[in-house]
Amino acid sequence: MISVERKKVTVAGFMKKKGGRIAMLSVYEYITAVLADRAGVDAVLVGDSLGMTMLGYGTTLPVTMEEMLCHVKAAARAKTSALLIADMPFMSFQVSPEEAVRNAGRMLKEGGAEAVKIEGGSCMAKTVEALAAAKIPVMGHIGLTPQAVHKFGGYKVQGRTAEAAKALVEDARCLESAGCFAVVLEGIPYEVAREITESVSIPTIGIGAGPHCDGQVLVGHDVLGLVEGRTPRFVRRYADLKAAVLEAFTRYVDDVRKGDFPGLEESYGNAQDDKD
Ligand code: KIV
Repeated sequence: MISVERKKVTVAGFMKKKGGRIAMLSVYEYITAVLADRAGVDAVLVGDSLGMTMLGYGTTLPVTMEEMLCHVKAAARAKTSALLIADMPFMSFQVSPEEAVRNAGRMLKEGGAEAVKIEGGSCMAKTVEALAAAKIPVMGHIGLTPQAVHKFGGYKVQGRTAEAAKALVEDARCLESAGCFAVVLEGIPYEVAREITESVSIPTIGIGAGPHCDGQVLVGHDVLGLVEGRTPRFVRRYADLKAAVLEAFTRYVDDVRKGDFPGLEESYGNAQDDKD
């Protein structure tokens, strides 16, 4: 495949894509960041969903700053043209705006991220202001915010009543005024996502929020078919890597057991014509 040189997506450039069709993927390390970038995404998010997909936790809550930093650094080594956004893990930004600035600063300074994402609506306004004042670009995230799973009593679609929908619109407006450059809308009815998208001048990025957002984000592992169990209805799977990986690993194990691997052509010898 011929790789085409792309213009670097900056925060300002990302904001100009309002009304366009922004494509974002949540991936967690070097090679998937390289491939997502080569596929042309506008932003690579190193999401804290890695707690479940990469680290085997039951929720995103146990994910630590150190775990996030390790993955953000790996993705940053991909030197993507896409904007690189680091997710802030649970309890790294909720305690105080000062702590949020300190931890978000680490994502840029040590991790190599170009922006951070935090979950929460109007209650996060002071934190967003503090991050913006520290020149740390911040993306908001409202609706079915997975870090609030225990508050919600499960992964439930949010904003289904008129009152809850109004609160979400207010949250988005508040995040925009506080200084967010974009906002993720997760797990909300598409009509509510449309209203939010029309109510703010920053891009809205949907996941389970229908087609009227300015952009979409999916978890790379879902797109690739690398997850165990049922996937939510908003996921479109573009590959079945779990089956492909299982088949490849099983054939390898069989070949070793049968004595078919390695062959002499896969072994070194003393002959001078051995090339490597
Ligand atoms: O953690 C994550 O991957 C996310 C996206 C799905 C928005 O927050």
